[in-house]
Amino acid sequence: MTDFIKVERRGAVQIIKMNRPDKKNALDRAMYGAMAKALTGGDADPEVRCHVFLGVPGAFTSGNDLQDFLAYATGGEQGMEVYDFLVALATAAKPVLSGVDGIAVGIGTTINLHCDLTYATPRTVFKTPFVDLGLVPEAGSSLIAPALLGRQRSFALLALGEGMSAGTAKQCGLIYDVVGEDEIEEVTLQMAENVAAKPPEALKIARDLMLGDRKIVVERIREEGAHFRARLQSDEARQAFMAFMARKKSA
Ligand code: COA
Repeated sequence: MTDFIKVERRGAVQIIKMNRPDKKNALDRAMYGAMAKALTGGDADPEVRCHVFLGVPGAFTSGNDLQDFLAYATGGEQGMEVYDFLVALATAAKPVLSGVDGIAVGIGTTINLHCDLTYATPRTVFKTPFVDLGLVPEAGSSLIAPALLGRQRSFALLALGEGMSAGTAKQCGLIYDVVGEDEIEEVTLQMAENVAAKPPEALKIARDLMLGDRKIVVERIREEGAHFRARLQSDEARQAFMAFMARKKSA
């Protein structure tokens, strides 16, 4: 149980809202667990026709909670919540949309590789500093991003950790459109209502055809996960997490 994920319904649209503003929506294990449960629960509920991810103003999410990473890096248990969430996302039976405003780090970027439609705001920057943290790409991004964005943009994003503006993200197909901060939630939810109003059986077949064999993506998530867990316990990663934790103290 966590108060940081709010799951709401607007008609046939299930809204999964990350709501931990004081930590810029950093995702801890309980939050991943709640989001996995919402996705699988919504998929099983005939009243739900699509899922929407939202954050708070200025922060979609700052990615995995680095405190959780550090706990695992120093001998703690990791749990299955992140893996469960990634698999639920990659295999979601119903369309997934997101409305991204502001910070979109790590999973805040890669989640969108699994979304059918993403809106973002002009102040949004997509960023995945995996390698700078001593880590490797996750969420199947090492497979999906090169296919979607091309090899060089993927390298800049996933290996170099370069930020990508909302405009560039639209241009290269990571997101559907850029809309203002004051309208992002409403535009996303209206589009979700539009999706929810489509004939569900035909929509499911159309979407499944476009997505193709998702077992390949799940297999890549598993493969990335094995590297990721090993990297979390590397000296490179431990030092990066400790540097982040220490930066306020020394500022
Ligand atoms: N994990 C844990 N805590 C985080 C966090 C994360 N991923 N991102 C932000 N926070 C916390 C900060 O420690 C800070 O907490 P405090 O007020 O108790 O000190 C609070 O959220 C606000 O963050 P702050 O850094 O002051 O905000 P900012 O607007 O200056 O910067 C970010 C925002 C996202 C650019 C910056 O926090 C950051 O780089 N975070 C780490 C992102 C990351 O590497 N994620 C993992 C990706 S795999």
